[in-house]
Amino acid sequence: MILQAGLVLSFMLWVDPSAGNEFRFASYISDYMVLQKEPAGAVIWGYGVPGAMVTVSLLHQQDTIMMKGTWVKGDSNTWTVVLDPMKPGGPFELMAEQDLGSENSTLRVREVLFGDVWLCSGQSNMQMTVSQIFNSSEELSSAVAYESVRIFSVALVQAWQELEDLPKVDLQWSKPTSENLGHGSFTYMSAVCWLFGRYLYERLRYPIGLVASSWGGTPIEAWSSGRSLKACGVRKQERLPGPGFGPQEHSVLWNAMIHPLQNMTLKGVIWYQGEANRFINRDLYNCTFPELIADWRQTFHVGSRGQTEELFPFGFVQLSSFVSEKIQDEEFPIIRWHQTADFGYVPNQRMPNTFMAVAMDLGDKYSPFGSIHPRDKQTVAYRLHLGARAVAYGEKVIFQGPVPKNIEVLAEGKQLHLTYSQPIQVTAQSDNIFTVSCCNNSQCKWLPVPMDTFSSQSLSLNISSCHGVPVAVRYAWATWPCDYKQCLLYNPASTLPAPPFFACISHLQGTAQKFGMCPHLS
Ligand SMILES: *[C@@H]1O[C@H](CO)[C@@H](O)[C@H](O)[C@H]1NC(C)=O
Ligand SMILES: *[C@@H]1O[C@H](CO)[C@@H](O)[C@H](O)[C@H]1NC(C)=O
Ligand SMILES: *[C@@H]1O[C@H](CO)[C@@H](O)[C@H](O)[C@H]1NC(C)=O
Ligand SMILES: *[C@@H]1O[C@H](CO)[C@@H](O)[C@H](O)[C@H]1NC(C)=O
Ligand SMILES: *[C@@H]1O[C@H](CO)[C@@H](O)[C@H](O)[C@H]1NC(C)=O
Ligand SMILES: *[C@@H]1O[C@H](CO)[C@@H](O)[C@H](O)[C@H]1NC(C)=O
Repeated sequence: MILQAGLVLSFMLWVDPSAGNEFRFASYISDYMVLQKEPAGAVIWGYGVPGAMVTVSLLHQQDTIMMKGTWVKGDSNTWTVVLDPMKPGGPFELMAEQDLGSENSTLRVREVLFGDVWLCSGQSNMQMTVSQIFNSSEELSSAVAYESVRIFSVALVQAWQELEDLPKVDLQWSKPTSENLGHGSFTYMSAVCWLFGRYLYERLRYPIGLVASSWGGTPIEAWSSGRSLKACGVRKQERLPGPGFGPQEHSVLWNAMIHPLQNMTLKGVIWYQGEANRFINRDLYNCTFPELIADWRQTFHVGSRGQTEELFPFGFVQLSSFVSEKIQDEEFPIIRWHQTADFGYVPNQRMPNTFMAVAMDLGDKYSPFGSIHPRDKQTVAYRLHLGARAVAYGEKVIFQGPVPKNIEVLAEGKQLHLTYSQPIQVTAQSDNIFTVSCCNNSQCKWLPVPMDTFSSQSLSLNISSCHGVPVAVRYAWATWPCDYKQCLLYNPASTLPAPPFFACISHLQGTAQKFGMCPHLS
């Protein structure tokens, strides 16, 4: 009986929290917060008595440096102002006064900084806390030195309807101390989010605000609006995965953990999710992921009254490796590929202004949290921050590993020659990280092919074991393609790994199409 009640309770969905007309700021406006800096203006909002006048002031020491007035709207009991763009820095005090003539009330938020605000979302690898990663005690004790990097963590809540404000917050805006950062496993604060912000701060040297909103075991459908699911033709999930999984229902986390943040001015988003979609709508991920990005961009742009950029930078982590019993398993390789909308690299036409951290070489067989939760989050965040520096901040920095730009069959069909977009470094030996699809009149088969020779920007594969037509080639197409930092190919300057890829050999497309191998070739 008791057990059953607990079960019911944990699956209870948040229905509409009645906002009331108490004069207050939105849930996520509090002491220690970071507001988005110039060129955007930060959006400030809250609730109040319909019709009342509200004045929002920004104070530096005792001086009022900005004042914005507005009225509480009758239909929603909300008031909203957009601050003028501010240079990075602080601290400031934010004051809101509601004028009811006979009775006035004042709200104050102290220690406010201006800087860049990043939202971090996804499933358990995003939710994994600083206490769970390698070198956790050093990471926790050194955090206090980064007091301009402020952290905030949204509580785990689901809802059937889009909510206006967060019903619950796990960690209100805080300075990073080991107590604030290091809570229990898969709670808060997100290690990837924290480390990403810390690397950015080391480069930018101005305040960074980090908003974590993630939940373990959740598919992309839970984080997607009805609009994006419809655009991809996603149908209702019939079979739910087993225990240990988070909410699976369509849009429930979008409704309760993302939509309420839509009016916040943001710099960008980072995302680490996809493991749960190896069971659910895997073949649609090349639609659901680009659609989620487009829909979040549109929502935040409109919600912030145009202050959050229309094409704001969106970074993500490509799935890492884990120890799978299924040797021939293609679930992870397919999700990794679909994370790039089947291009193999980002940004690309379908995913503009995005960046990706490749993580397939960061597998962790002995992770106490299961090998699906690798503990090296430092390298993940480092690679992600390189992408942000290039894509979000316009720095000329290498942020992608090498991808082949030309593939040719040479030596009378015995060699496949790959020319790369950038220099390559051969780091490890591997005779099976490349595979070739070899077709004869009746079928195609993937054969491992060893590397013959390589130079600074190209390599040759020995395909003499293929006694048919080699129609396609794949790199690192495995759940666990290589050991820790020991994949075959890296960029020599940045030590960024070559991402997994799948390419059809275009002049052989006739054969390829016959076998349905390369449907995108026309
Ligand atoms: C409330 O504020 C307004 C404007 O600042 C002022 O005119 C009015 O006297 C105040 N009312 C009270 C009761 O303090
Ligand atoms: C997505 O991938 C599937 C195969 O997994 C393919 O059939 C489909 O055409 C792709 N869709 C898009 C939009 O690229
Ligand atoms: C948040 O943004 C939405 C979409 O633009 C808008 O309808 C809503 O009024 C905004 N909320 C506030 C409090 O400004
Ligand atoms: C952990 O700390 C050691 C010693 O400083 C360092 O060599 C290693 O790279 C760190 N590990 C990670 C994952 O950052
Ligand atoms: C075609 O390839 C398959 C598998 O590689 C092999 O079993 C079959 O004998 C081959 N057929 C011909 C006609 O070569
Ligand atoms: C290619 O591999 C075959 C065995 O499959 C071997 O006999 C041959 O010598 C190799 N070619 C080169 C150029 O290494």
